[in-house]
Amino acid sequence: MTKPSAAAGSICWESPANIAMIKYWGKYPGQLPMNPSLSFVLKKSVVRICLHYEKSENGQLEQFLLNGMPNPAFMQRISGYLLDMHAWFPFLSAYRLRIDSESTFPHSAGIASSAAAFSALALCLCSLSQVVTGKLPEIDSRQDDSEQGLTDHDKLIQTASFFSRLGSGSACRSLESGFVLWGRTPLVGEGSDQYGFRLPSERVHPQFQSIQDAILIVDDTTKKVSSSAGHALMQKHPYRESRIAHVSDNLGLMLEALRSGDEKLFMDVAVNEALTLHSLMMSSSPGYMLMRPQTIEILERIEAFRKESGLSVGYTMDAGPNVHLLYFAHDAAAVKSFISGHLLAHCKGGRWISDSMGHGPVSLT
Ligand code: PMV
Repeated sequence: MTKPSAAAGSICWESPANIAMIKYWGKYPGQLPMNPSLSFVLKKSVVRICLHYEKSENGQLEQFLLNGMPNPAFMQRISGYLLDMHAWFPFLSAYRLRIDSESTFPHSAGIASSAAAFSALALCLCSLSQVVTGKLPEIDSRQDDSEQGLTDHDKLIQTASFFSRLGSGSACRSLESGFVLWGRTPLVGEGSDQYGFRLPSERVHPQFQSIQDAILIVDDTTKKVSSSAGHALMQKHPYRESRIAHVSDNLGLMLEALRSGDEKLFMDVAVNEALTLHSLMMSSSPGYMLMRPQTIEILERIEAFRKESGLSVGYTMDAGPNVHLLYFAHDAAAVKSFISGHLLAHCKGGRWISDSMGHGPVSLT
């Protein structure tokens, strides 16, 4: 790999997908969230991005490869994003760029690959800014006192979170390990609409470090209604105001569960958020449904298993048909045997991904 210099080089970052326990659904212009959300990053579901750059009269993105193959749809989205980024990274107009990306999980597996991709790309841009200009770009919306006490690494992460958000809202929660909050809320003073905020250790019982996520693939084809369309439908949603109030209640309960180590409350709130997200889709105008018959079969089986076993299990779903079965490492043996005996028959091709809480992005340069 060419050593990064201002003339030419390569900068590479690996960044994870995240899974929300409290769901972001609905947004305002500028990719600002209608409500606060809370998630953790995954360990195995990551995207690696190498940004190759070279000084040139005619700065533009020349190539985008995903797992070694051109991907015109994603290239178009990334090219648009990079053009928008010229406002903060003006030097980009003097560089020819190529991007090699690699994803460890199928693009439409119900895992937010765009969150992993945009967080990795934003980190590459911030690192490139440090190489070319010697500093990070100013993010004008940084709360006045929020920079105080931040290390250089914290500033890099906060800045990259800001720019990730502009690519895909939920991407701003992929920059750190532990539980990351995005959105202003009176419940957590440090919460910001502009970037993610990692809940400090005193707010999260150590028990939650061992959270596991079994991703049960029901359908891996592209979903019929995109998340962007779903966010837009929240603008005039009849339950919009009640959702905003409800999410605040759920966030309060989730924060209490995390602080006290209450596994059952944690699972109850996660399940309620997943069902609420999908009921908001169904009650949009026009309404739509992303769950498939196998999704419902799996959810019912998990509910029955929760009751019969008494274990702390639950589930969540993103805007898609796949199910994320949540459990703790101490119950792994029982849960894995439940998955193979009762759930895999309802997964497409018997596919599932055994994932868990991860550690956040890694520099590969
Ligand atoms: O970041 P987007 O625009 O892909 O929206 C993601 C929304 C959900 O995945 C459904 C919920 C969330 O908070 O991640």
